[in-house]
Amino acid sequence: MGRISGVTAADTRERLLRGAAEVFAERGYDGTRVADIAAAAGVSNGAMYAHFASKADLLVAALRAHGRRMLADAFAADPDRSVTDLLVLIGRWLPRRDDDANRYLLVEALVAARRDEDVARPMRDYVAERADWLADLVRVAQAGDEIDADLSPNALAHFCLLLAMGSALITPDLHTVADQEWAALLSRVVAGLAPAAGPEQTRSEPMKVQISSERCQGHGRCYDLAPDLFAEDDEGYGTVIGDGRVPPGQEDQARLAVANCPERAIDTSEA
Ligand code: F3S
Repeated sequence: MGRISGVTAADTRERLLRGAAEVFAERGYDGTRVADIAAAAGVSNGAMYAHFASKADLLVAALRAHGRRMLADAFAADPDRSVTDLLVLIGRWLPRRDDDANRYLLVEALVAARRDEDVARPMRDYVAERADWLADLVRVAQAGDEIDADLSPNALAHFCLLLAMGSALITPDLHTVADQEWAALLSRVVAGLAPAAGPEQTRSEPMKVQISSERCQGHGRCYDLAPDLFAEDDEGYGTVIGDGRVPPGQEDQARLAVANCPERAIDTSEA
């Protein structure tokens, strides 16, 4: 199979990565031959070896590429998203990975790494890269006062990795949880990462929240993330519960809702 005219090396690499993801997901690492991947990508075996040294390299490269695409999509949807918002968004995807080729790839790679040192080596590098990326993200959030600076970025990165990798194994057919329940739990976890309240946050005056009816477009993140403070009206727009007064201890939920509203429709103020 010769080179396809008009197809660049980058195109060929991308085709190989997508073909590898499909074939590994379908046949497993051990059941996949290099020739199967080359055929799925529509390239020759020689072209494949020009881009990847081995089947193991291709497996880990496919995993890496999928992760990059997912993050690019998350950033593209809202480039101004805060770090905690990004973590919540990714966290909300995790239980719904049943149709996600990355889940199969990840399981295949983890199992193969247990048996095959050729896979274990690049997998160690891959996991270390993910951990470093997450730890750097945590440091950015700490510098921006979103996450308590006393928390260990490495420990938090490790926690996120355990969740992400575990989500590849515990699938919705094994155990489902309602999206709202999961979102409410994540909001508590993220709120617990926030810096300890400073002197100005411990005043006796309670915080109040309000939603601008002009700006609210009904995205629903407020009542998903802070169901004790916000509700939806008959048309799905957000409303504050009661007079908007935030009960003591729920200020972080209010801030989470403020940070997550894409329309910036929620304001907080001291009553
Ligand atoms: Fe409206 Fe923002 Fe909530 S658009 S429904 S206030 S998340």
